[in-house]
Amino acid sequence: MSSVIGFGALNLDKIYRVDKIPRADEEGFVKDLQLFPGGSAANTIVGLSRLGIKSAYIGKVGDDAEGRILLEDLEKERVETKAVVRTSGRSGTAVILVDDMGNRAILVDPGVNDTIRYEEIDLDFATKFSLIHLTSFICKNGFDSFNSQKRIVENFEFVSFDPGLPYAERGKKEMIQILRRTNVFLPNKLEIEKMFGVDYKSAADECISMGIEVVAVKLGKEGCWIKSKDKELRVPARSVKVIDTTGAGDAFNAGFLYGYLNRKDLETCGKIGNYVASLCIQQVGARSGLPYSVDF
Ligand SMILES: Nc1ncnc2c1ncn2[C@@H]1O[C@H](COP(=O)(O)OP(=O)(O)OP(=O)(O)O)[C@@H](O)[C@H]1O
Ligand SMILES: [Mg+2]
Repeated sequence: MSSVIGFGALNLDKIYRVDKIPRADEEGFVKDLQLFPGGSAANTIVGLSRLGIKSAYIGKVGDDAEGRILLEDLEKERVETKAVVRTSGRSGTAVILVDDMGNRAILVDPGVNDTIRYEEIDLDFATKFSLIHLTSFICKNGFDSFNSQKRIVENFEFVSFDPGLPYAERGKKEMIQILRRTNVFLPNKLEIEKMFGVDYKSAADECISMGIEVVAVKLGKEGCWIKSKDKELRVPARSVKVIDTTGAGDAFNAGFLYGYLNRKDLETCGKIGNYVASLCIQQVGARSGLPYSVDF
């Protein structure tokens, strides 16, 4: 039975509905506050856990109320938190102001996310999982977490990797240690093109010649495009009413990896990815729509 451990940021999104987004020296007031636990890899791991895959997480939280909410939420989702490091300091948060017109202003506090040292990770526990899923750190407070990711992949036979924009912008050279251990690569089109500096199809060719088994490129409302050594196919997205695309890519990853771990063919993996993403984007928040079963 496969099992998955995620390694990425943990953030609490605080969405404030406000009467206006204030400028310097102005004042606005808050009408409502909603809290959404997030972090790209964490969203994917929660998706996999809901689908019945044994799951855990490597991350870091501070000794604050936000950290407790993040941990309790993972536990509620049956994601094991033994490898989440607890420390003094602030947990990662994002303060998001939304006015009645739908305008947004966002302030991100990476907090302790970027500071995970390799020595802090419970490796005996982590390496019992068959797959490790990585997403990016912002690296505003140093490179400890990024360096730990580069080292930890050496301990896993199976690695999946969604670079997000922060790692895509670092370029393939800086990502090479992770890329050459990657089995399933899950960028969107912009990210793979930024990372490799060529169009996504040429970039995917490079990935395959580097030893990556499968590249699934997310194409938004166009669905996804998948490449392996001997296959290349596009799987169209589902036509649905979009409410909020936050976490669409993370939800896609959960569906795709679920299919892959269950040895489905690549087209079915793409279909499950698009399906889980379509459920995500029909609800507000990155995790609200993530399903507890899929029938493919
Ligand atoms: N408008 C849409 N209609 C239907 N499906 C969509 C739409 N937008 C996104 N999706 C689904 O969500 C998946 C991932 O979306 P997208 O390509 O935007 O990934 P992403 O840029 O990595 O997202 P994120 O910003 O969450 O990281 C797509 O492959 C598709 O299945
Ligand atoms: Mg993404």
